[in-house]
Amino acid sequence: MAMCYQPIGVMDSGIGGLTVVRELQRLLPGEDLIYFGDSANCPYGNRTPDQIEQLSKNILGFLEESGVKVTAIACNTISALADRLIPAFSHKIISIVIPAANAVVFEGLREVGLIATEFTVQSGAYEQLIHEFDPSIEVFSQGSPLLAWLVDRGDFNDDEIDTEIITQIDKILARRKVRHIILGCTHYPIIGQNFARCYPGVTFIDPALEQTKAISRYLGQQHLLSDRKQGRFVICTSGDPQVYLQVVRRLGLREPDEIRVVKL
Ligand code: DGL
Repeated sequence: MAMCYQPIGVMDSGIGGLTVVRELQRLLPGEDLIYFGDSANCPYGNRTPDQIEQLSKNILGFLEESGVKVTAIACNTISALADRLIPAFSHKIISIVIPAANAVVFEGLREVGLIATEFTVQSGAYEQLIHEFDPSIEVFSQGSPLLAWLVDRGDFNDDEIDTEIITQIDKILARRKVRHIILGCTHYPIIGQNFARCYPGVTFIDPALEQTKAISRYLGQQHLLSDRKQGRFVICTSGDPQVYLQVVRRLGLREPDEIRVVKL
């Protein structure tokens, strides 16, 4: 049985899930967090479903062994395969796509853009979930084969980032001048300023807050919320820890208590 002082697991193919950590630290500061970012294998979004499933199961196995009470899949690409992952583990796993799709519906948007990895777009997960609630909402989706990889390298001044943003967002706006676009890859809010600078008239939706609210609701219902003032924050990565520290500072996160290189 899960206990309130067990950590929350947060997983991503790389640094993107730190945007979910930002919301978790704001909303649930007393929770211990254990983060796994698989930068050695990032991007996942250009891989096959079987590869993504295997890599994700390795991370979920690691987090389960670390004794988490719940895991946030802080990655839209992995969340698109949630149905293949959740039954293989005994702890609670919460996707990022479902709460984000719910938020679009409850905001009352009639049309929305989506920029995400090619895998997430091809999976149709956002359209399917949004249309389960309301089939009349129009979704204009566009995949980027490059953006998650460019961001995961940690060079946020790279001109290629703005070029790729403009290339893909212009394709959405050519189909419909939407006012709201979902950042359907957790790497993208790290460069939220670039999106806002390139498209000041568009509201970009970051799904991290909705996922964090879903986690908070689950823990509350199960009486599993920690009552500590401040939790421990541990980062595990298969990549370069320096890039993680750079993003921690860029996003204004609490410094990790521990950062470890882990090869699964
Ligand atoms: N952060 C992941 C997502 O939300 C990045 C995907 C990737 O590794 O391609 O989709």
